[in-house]
Amino acid sequence: MKTSCISVNNDVDKSEAYQQAVDLLNKGEVVAFPTETVYGLGAIATNNEAVNKIFAAKGRPSDNPLIVHIGSIEEVSTYIEEIPEIAIKCMEKFWPGPLTIVMKAKKDVLAKSVTAGLTTVGLRMPDHPVALNLLQLLKQPVAAPSANKSGKPSPTKAEHVEEDLQGLIPLILDGGPTGIGLESTVLDVTVNPPAILRPGGVTKEMLEEVIGEVNQPTLSQQDKKETPKAPGMKYTHYAPNAPVYLIEQDLPTVEKAIEQLRQEGEIIALLAPSEFEELQADYFFSFGQDGDKDEIGVKLYDDLRACDKTNASIILATTTSTDGVGAAIMNRLEKAAGGKWYQLK
Ligand code: TXA
Ligand code: MG
Repeated sequence: MKTSCISVNNDVDKSEAYQQAVDLLNKGEVVAFPTETVYGLGAIATNNEAVNKIFAAKGRPSDNPLIVHIGSIEEVSTYIEEIPEIAIKCMEKFWPGPLTIVMKAKKDVLAKSVTAGLTTVGLRMPDHPVALNLLQLLKQPVAAPSANKSGKPSPTKAEHVEEDLQGLIPLILDGGPTGIGLESTVLDVTVNPPAILRPGGVTKEMLEEVIGEVNQPTLSQQDKKETPKAPGMKYTHYAPNAPVYLIEQDLPTVEKAIEQLRQEGEIIALLAPSEFEELQADYFFSFGQDGDKDEIGVKLYDDLRACDKTNASIILATTTSTDGVGAAIMNRLEKAAGGKWYQLK
């Protein structure tokens, strides 16, 4: 299959590209498109055969449910039996935006493979002009996971989608780099207090201001559970080819680590704020200025992917505190590293 990648940025006539995307989706095909978090790989969420093509293209385990994207708050009642008051408050405050709300699904409305056998479904209204325009033209719900090969970092640019899915999908709508760079917060409102199943751009602090107490299990707590509540969180994720090690964001510590690793003959890629460039790792990928968390979020996956284009044998990534969007950054970094920290000898 040939993969077309069409820019829908402002300087081109976009209507033809959108029409092509709508036609493909209506024919039961998959289409990649940008959201404010990461690029998604979409199919009409009521078409089981189409949704199965998402799993096939990504190599995604079939027990991992998909998020359903909608173009308006009004559509929620088509898929959800009883909408909890808390969910309504969240939609009013954070939609469109990077918040997925897990609620009890109506029976037999969405395709079986979307919910992967669960009785719940995660809904979100994305805050991106391309995604919203597509949803509003299509007038159908779109199931869309991140548009990467399963296990790889999520795509924050159309090129990342091409790297992973070239030849496997017919169309990518290129809307430029995504603004947030980390996937949406997944909030389960079927439990009391509501629980964050995956931290993201809408933080625990932001949620608590609107709906009161919210649980956010730490990664180690999540790992202890045999069946994590967000099935996707149990798989290896965001992993470049070379092993990733976490290290404190401290110049002397990282300097020593680089020295030791060099002596051991390792080729080192360093992911850190810009002031760490002076340490002269073999490859340096900046997390932005001064450890600003929003900037780390935007750059993280691009930097992890960039490591795969080098001959680095080891990747060091500096950590950040877990307040605000730091919780989402550390969640992704710990997964990319498989929980490994670099130990100075
Ligand atoms: O920002 C995002 O959420 C992006 C963009 C494309 O919208 N999508 C995304 O989808 O990250 P995906 O499939 O890569 O991640 C969805 C996560 C998985 O961890 C999945 O297990 C969890 O959400 N999830 C989906 N439906 C769920 C449900 N009903 N109950 C619990 N977890 C669910
Ligand atoms: Mg994903």
